[in-house]
Amino acid sequence: MTNKTYTEVIDEIRNRLDILDVVQSRVVLKKRGTNYWGCCPFHNEKTPSFCVSPQKGIFKCFGCGEGGDAISFLMKINNQSFNDVIKDLAQQFGIELPSFNSDSKKYGDEKQKIKDILEKACKYYHNNLLTLDEAKPALEYLQKRGITKEIIDEYQLGYSKKGYTELISHFKSDYTPDIIEKAGLTVKTEKSENIDRFRHRIMIPIRDESSNVIAFGARAIEANQNPKYLNSPDTVLYNKSRILYGIDTAKKQIMADDYVVIMEGYFDVISSQAAGLKNAVASCGTALTVDHIKLIAKYSKNRRIYLAFDTDSAGLKATQRSSDVIKEAFRGLGNIKIFDQTYSSLNDDKYTCEIRVIAPFDSKDPDEYIREYGIEQYKNYIKKAPLLLDFELNQALKDYNSDFSPTDKLKLVKKIMPLIEEIPNNIVQNEYIKLVSDKINIDESALIREVNRSKMFQTIESKPIERIVTKSSNNSEKAQKNLLSLFFTSGTDIDLNNLIEVIKNVKFTNKNLIIIKEAIDKLLYRVNNNVDELIQSLYTQFAEDNELKDIITDLIYIADSFKNLSERDFKAAIRDNVNSIQKYHFNCEKDEIAAKYKQLNDDDIESMQYQMQLREKIKNKHKVGE
Ligand code: GTP
Ligand code: MN
Repeated sequence: MTNKTYTEVIDEIRNRLDILDVVQSRVVLKKRGTNYWGCCPFHNEKTPSFCVSPQKGIFKCFGCGEGGDAISFLMKINNQSFNDVIKDLAQQFGIELPSFNSDSKKYGDEKQKIKDILEKACKYYHNNLLTLDEAKPALEYLQKRGITKEIIDEYQLGYSKKGYTELISHFKSDYTPDIIEKAGLTVKTEKSENIDRFRHRIMIPIRDESSNVIAFGARAIEANQNPKYLNSPDTVLYNKSRILYGIDTAKKQIMADDYVVIMEGYFDVISSQAAGLKNAVASCGTALTVDHIKLIAKYSKNRRIYLAFDTDSAGLKATQRSSDVIKEAFRGLGNIKIFDQTYSSLNDDKYTCEIRVIAPFDSKDPDEYIREYGIEQYKNYIKKAPLLLDFELNQALKDYNSDFSPTDKLKLVKKIMPLIEEIPNNIVQNEYIKLVSDKINIDESALIREVNRSKMFQTIESKPIERIVTKSSNNSEKAQKNLLSLFFTSGTDIDLNNLIEVIKNVKFTNKNLIIIKEAIDKLLYRVNNNVDELIQSLYTQFAEDNELKDIITDLIYIADSFKNLSERDFKAAIRDNVNSIQKYHFNCEKDEIAAKYKQLNDDDIESMQYQMQLREKIKNKHKVGE
């Protein structure tokens, strides 16, 4: 057995890895200067913006922003975890991995056992469905739904028997009751006895990104059997807020098409995928979460998300809620795509995500729709799917008719207002105002006044100080980035240990940059002033954190602009950036004091009355808007 530590083994693997070799097995590269260029494998492009620097051992795409070292390249291109990549490479290089200490080994063993048992349970249920007399109603039900034998095999659908201890007895000789329970396959009765969780149900295996079975969804067969769906509980392998049903079979297509279709149910996904619409997924009986969206964002580079929920009122609420979750997931990264090609010249702000809604006219769910009209017609719906804003506007305007009284119209305007307010571009906003006022036959200028007034309320509602802070903090953050990038600058004789001493006392504000700064501080003693070693250590430390790794790659590229500076210029760069951070802190304090002072002066009667009026109006605005 090896007596090397895990870190030593990873170092050894790194030393033997050649970024050029690794990347070139997947991307055609051409040498230009010291770097190599090619078309990025992580997004669609025709002109190369993907760059590999063998010197630094890293890659970076200037089109989509992906970047990292050889190991992160493998993680991304194969969709593997850091540990899985290391395992594969160790095997490839014939390097033995050290065994973990007993605690983590026990934990690992348990996980592995649960994986085994779920895989076996999947086969067991599947076999039940195909062979048992008892399973006939289940089979018939599936056939009635258009689920063929091929689909049953491909998705390993199964059947759980009626008895209370069928699965328990089946596994009795191989597994302890404890581990079966931890796999989520049994429940405890009031008398504390274990019984099978799933009885007389159609079993749908839920798989992780690497196609391991991690849980089950189970559908009732009889009309009066409740609940309609019963799901595995969360376990060490399964977290329902993180996993999407169908992701393992969908991920390739999501990457290829750069969009995903989120549906409501298991059978929607099965029907779509089986009919050839592979990029469909569903949450497993739970509302969509930010983690679900992050999972998708890994595969759809431009984060193009189609929502295919029901069009009944519950489904509409789910669409609303889910789009809020999506916006939340990408908050701070930029605007969402609001309008289509008609305004493409105005659309040059790069948006962070695109949300579209698929809502067939007769409000069937995707499963029913595809069975009735076929996949081609459904795909046509996808092609024409409106962007979220257009969908919401249409939805609001749908009820309008020419008999509307002024009060009805006012109500409608209040409903539409928040949608129009969200449009970040004034010209497009005016286009929409024109469209709406035409449609419901009101005066365009009145609507414009309404929007402007509401803008004024917003300005008053939000604190002016916060605005100032976010505005000038960009400069300060730039300076913070510059300072950290100095650690990655080649061609200078500067002592990195001196540099960290200077920077340590400078107050950083960006959370991620603070983390990286502290990591550099801790790692420096190990890397002997060697920039490349520092880079490698940081990538290792943050192997599982894509956001931080991306920032580190950015820092390395910023460092290029400081390359080969004389010591004097280098010191000037430090001083300038430290100054601009300190100036920012000074300005913040100043603004805070100024704001307080201003409040004191505003205490005269007239302004108080004015403010009260405004507050009243703001309150009413919210009331009517509901
Ligand atoms: P089918 O009738 O099988 O086609 O289901 P559906 O997907 O058309 O129906 P529905 O809209 O009722 O369910 C959508 C999804 O919500 C299902 O796939 C489940 O994931 C989840 N769901 C539905 N009913 C239940 C329930 O009773 N309990 C739980 N936990 N989840 C449910
Ligand atoms: Mn359905």
